[in-house]
Amino acid sequence: MPSASQASGESRVVRTMTRDDLDSACRILVEQGLCAAEGLQQRLAATLETANADYLVAEEDGAIVGVTLSVFDGFTGFVSYMAVAPGAERRHIGRRMIGELVRRTRARGGQNIVVASWLSAAGFYERMGFRTPGAVFLVRDV
Ligand SMILES: CC(C)(COP(=O)(O)OP(=O)(O)OC[C@H]1O[C@@H](n2cnc3c(N)ncnc32)[C@H](O)[C@@H]1OP(=O)(O)O)[C@@H](O)C(=O)NCCC(=O)NCCS
Repeated sequence: MPSASQASGESRVVRTMTRDDLDSACRILVEQGLCAAEGLQQRLAATLETANADYLVAEEDGAIVGVTLSVFDGFTGFVSYMAVAPGAERRHIGRRMIGELVRRTRARGGQNIVVASWLSAAGFYERMGFRTPGAVFLVRDV
């Protein structure tokens, strides 16, 4: 079930990403510099409908303005990528996507949400109630 709100006649919704959203969603992720375009659409198409994927889009008046990719492992929702369309930042689109993700992770019986964030976005996540735990984030290229 999407979460929807109506404000001054504007239609806003955060809902599950579908195949029809892939073009717009990929464009936002690439334009915000989060990932390269090559192969992105195919990888998201292949993982979009898996049972533990919480891939969300934020829509305003029919246009996709935000994307969140999260995967649930039975304990935790892991947010790997989250972006708002360039020029649409700081209008609480990110806040609405986090709200919906919290709702979905709770509904799955999850205990928490972990996010991999750029330092420049850490203030946003702190504002959304995230804390920095006593842990490190290790990456190995494959
Ligand atoms: C980071 C991002 C997802 C936040 O979404 P957003 O819609 O712009 O953020 P919101 O408007 O919902 O912000 C919610 C609150 O966090 C604050 N905030 C937003 N971005 C912030 C930042 N980079 N640093 C500190 N605070 C921030 C807002 O001022 C707002 O505060 P308020 O509730 O008191 O008004 C978005 O700006 C973005 O796509 N940035 C570029 C890509 C990126 O950095 N992605 C995340 C790393 S993977």
